[in-house]
Formats: sequence, structure tokens, C-alpha cells
Amino acid sequence: MNNNKINQVQIFFPNSRQHKSNRLEELLKKYEIKDMNDWENVNADLIITDPPFGIEFSGKPTNYHRNVENVVDSYVEWNVSEYGWKIQQLLECIKRNLKENGQALIFSGWNNSNIIHDRIMQFRGLTLRGKLYWTYNFAPTCRVRPSHNVYEIYWVTKGDKWTFHNRCITHHCQKGEPNLTTLNFKRDYKVNMPKYPTRLPFKLLQCLLEHFSKKDDLIFDPLCGSGMVGVVSYMLERNFIIGDLNKNGKIVFKHLLDYYLNKNGLVQDKKLLTWWKNE
Ligand SMILES: C[S@@+](CC[C@H](N)C(=O)[O-])C[C@H]1O[C@@H](n2cnc3c(N)ncnc32)[C@H](O)[C@@H]1O
Repeated sequence: MNNNKINQVQIFFPNSRQHKSNRLEELLKKYEIKDMNDWENVNADLIITDPPFGIEFSGKPTNYHRNVENVVDSYVEWNVSEYGWKIQQLLECIKRNLKENGQALIFSGWNNSNIIHDRIMQFRGLTLRGKLYWTYNFAPTCRVRPSHNVYEIYWVTKGDKWTFHNRCITHHCQKGEPNLTTLNFKRDYKVNMPKYPTRLPFKLLQCLLEHFSKKDDLIFDPLCGSGMVGVVSYMLERNFIIGDLNKNGKIVFKHLLDYYLNKNGLVQDKKLLTWWKNE
């Protein structure tokens, strides 16, 4: 068979096994094991990123609804003492890798949110335009203080123009008032799959991508963990490039791609039960 024929087969039978494995290989290449400080000129339209919390977090304690055995190792946490400096480096990474009219959404837990806020306000070249709040579905009950299940999301832009759509197709805009102050999305746990501490849920990212980007935009996440930002970008026909220092994040990414691309969730979960642990 000559090369032309191979190409023809791929074009006419886009769902063939050959085509699917090529597509998976292409998508995996978009996840680089890389320090955020090493990215240059990505030229992204939108950066969605979720920095470590700075609370000596490992993701292993059982305060999440999941089997700890399935949680991958080597999450890179930031020390409280270095947190301000790390956020400064992240803001520089964002500025360096955004288009002129690009924008970024930066997640923050409550503990060090003040540090992120201060650093953004002092930073030259990015403007804080607003703040969103994501409320999610677990907060360990605590007798001594109110339980907390809110993330803050800082919305920053590089220039004076940006992309924004008033409505998305998740329940956020389809039911109730589509304000962008409070985003109420549950965490979507996957059964028997390798898990990444702090993986963001699909629908939350869908909501953000639909409001703040358009088809074919380039989406970037330099602290991508499981690579969920890449997965959802791809499913919504955006381009993406993502990275993390933790190579185990890419294992989770591979499984998430398989899960969402093959669209057979629970069957897939069973098939993937153990082999990933030997990789
Ligand atoms: C809160 S997690 C991101 C989780 C991700 N949003 C998801 O949906 O899976 C923060 C990530 O930053 C990574 N990280 C920490 N320092 C880094 C650095 N200097 N360069 C690249 N990644 C880094 C950690 O390994 C961790 O995966």
C-alpha cells in the first residue's frame, strides 16, 4: 500500500482504529513535562491555570471521595515561604505566553488568595478585571469553623480587548440567572481510574471555555496536572498546549483522553483497573 492510500483510508474512515491511535499520539505530544518558567512565546488566547495551594498538600489524605491507592504521586507543591515568589514567576509566565489581547483565569484556594491578589495588583502588564467563585460539592464538616468549598478565580487580561460570550451551554446559563460571579459545579469523580489530586471538573472548564474563548483558540495551562484543561479544550474544538513538572500527570491525561474520546465511561473504567500502576 502506498502512502496516498494510507492517507485516503484515514480521511474516509476517520473513526478507524489507526486514526484513533494517531489522534491519541498527537494529543499526547501537546502535554510537555516542563517547568512553567521554561515556556516562551506560546501566544495563547486564553490561559486557564490552577497553581499549587501552598499548604503542604500532597493529595493523598483521605478527605477526598476516592481510593488513595489510585492517586498518582509526585505532585509538586510550593512552600508557604516561597509562595509570593512562585506566583510572581507564574504571572511572568502568563504575560510571556499570552497574545496581545489574551486573557487568563487563575484559580486560588482561600489560604493564600491574598498573596495572589497582592501580586496581581502589583504586577505590570496584566490587569485584574474581576473575580469569579467556584463552589463545589464537598467540604469536610468541621465543628470549630465553617467548612469551606469555594475556589476563587482571578480574571486578568493583557490588553484592553478580550473575548467574552454571555452564555454557555452548561446548566450555569441554561438554568437560573447566567451571572459569572458564582459557578456551582460538582467534582466529577471517575471510578477505578488513576487520579490526579485537584483535577478540575469537565463542566466547570466547559463553562469557562465557552464564556472566555472561541472555536480554534489556543488554550494554555503551564500547571496542568491531569491535563483536564487540554481534554476539555479538545472536546470543545479549541487547540491546546499544556505542561507540568510531574510526569505522572501525563498518565492521568492519557486515561482521561481515552475516557472522553471513547465515550464509554464505566466500561472503560473497568478495563483500566490496574495496568497503569506498572507504567
Ligand atoms: C493544583 S495542581 C493543577 C491541577 C490541574 N488543574 C488539574 O485539573 O489536574 C498544580 C500543579 O502544578 C504543578 N507544578 C508545580 N510547580 C510547577 C512548575 N514550576 N512547573 C510546572 N508545573 C508545576 C504540580 O505538579 C501540580 O500538578
